[in-house]
Amino acid sequence: MRTVTVKAGKGYEVRIGRGLLPEIGKQIGVVPGVRRVLVVSDDKVFPLYGDTVLKSLTDAGYETDSFVFANGEASKNLTVYGELLTKLCDAGLTRDDLLIALGGGVTGDLAGFAAATYRRGIPFVQVPTTLLAAVDSSVGGKTAVDLPNGKNQVGAFYQPALVICDPDTLATLPEIEYRNGCAEIIKYGVLDGEELFSKLAEKPVSEQFEEVIERCVSIKRDYVEADEFDRGLRMFLNLGHTIGHAVEACSDFTIPHGQGVAIGMAAIARASVENGLCSEETASRIIELLKKYSLPTEMPDYPVTKLAQAAGSDKKNTGASMRLVIPQAIGNCTVHKIPASDFPEWLRKGGAHE
Ligand SMILES: NC(=O)c1ccc[n+]([C@@H]2O[C@H](COP(=O)([O-])OP(=O)(O)OC[C@H]3O[C@@H](n4cnc5c(N)ncnc54)[C@H](O)[C@@H]3O)[C@@H](O)[C@H]2O)c1
Ligand SMILES: [Zn+2]
Repeated sequence: MRTVTVKAGKGYEVRIGRGLLPEIGKQIGVVPGVRRVLVVSDDKVFPLYGDTVLKSLTDAGYETDSFVFANGEASKNLTVYGELLTKLCDAGLTRDDLLIALGGGVTGDLAGFAAATYRRGIPFVQVPTTLLAAVDSSVGGKTAVDLPNGKNQVGAFYQPALVICDPDTLATLPEIEYRNGCAEIIKYGVLDGEELFSKLAEKPVSEQFEEVIERCVSIKRDYVEADEFDRGLRMFLNLGHTIGHAVEACSDFTIPHGQGVAIGMAAIARASVENGLCSEETASRIIELLKKYSLPTEMPDYPVTKLAQAAGSDKKNTGASMRLVIPQAIGNCTVHKIPASDFPEWLRKGGAHE
């Protein structure tokens, strides 16, 4: 087992290791005084891993219950959040009890926000079962649900009490979800430097899950510890995300997040070359690695105006600025402040069409 300690909130461990899931009853012993546990999961993950988790908890002497919702981003809303709170109430859970988020980022964000707000906060444990959740959403304490007018519009910073990541659960992950996670992992490689970047180029992530997840979690941990409430440094984790989000939004979210990030990283690398901020070689290494993981690197056919609108750079107030994370070299990214009115030109240089 590999352990990364995060000094945020009350401080917690991220434990990564094959075979941890059937041991979860023992693992959660680090959270003191718990008697009852509510397992929150979606209707794809629960049939796969729910019984293993419930059995392990029961064997360890916990009283258990579960809350299962329809899988997918569409469930990360106020209605399902309300149903989960009602379940917590009906089950009579108190601040001495525990909630477990068993699933991907949707489950973690939703269950985490319920844990943050039910009775002003009950402890929760993240058990990520997607690669994206393992390397990103389960660590750092951002919890949220979506509103009809935007993603993650209601939420809280609320750190888990423990994160248990068992890479064995990734065996059932659909190929597309694996690739989505790899896009975020490549982002960490660009932020961190040659060691991780070349590891990803040498051998597929799937052949080195534990090592790669540990490295990515450590990188995220450093940003989170330096900037728990996302006021500055954590912005680096947005590499590829500004253009990526715009692409996702223009596709009405039919392009998944990981693919948006891949396109966004390729585009910002190309635009940075055009603006003399990044070498051709660095940009092509990033693009080649994305391609190696079968991730898209070309801007889809959305007009620049629509993309700029989706990124919020079309605001009438002319003084507005934007911050872009620039990959100057592998392991050397910088934050570049630009007038929002310049963003369409960055999009064009990144390969967007008129
Ligand atoms: N809190 C944060 O810091 C943070 C960071 C990044 C993303 N997010 C959020 O995370 C969400 C995306 O997370 P995600 O990509 O994990 O999505 P997800 O939770 O919807 O999971 C993707 C799909 O994979 C299925 N699945 C999960 N684990 C599986 C397994 N082991 N085997 C088979 N199928 C499995 C799920 O049922 C779902 O259909 C978004 O809502 C995003 O906003 C949050
Ligand atoms: Zn992301």
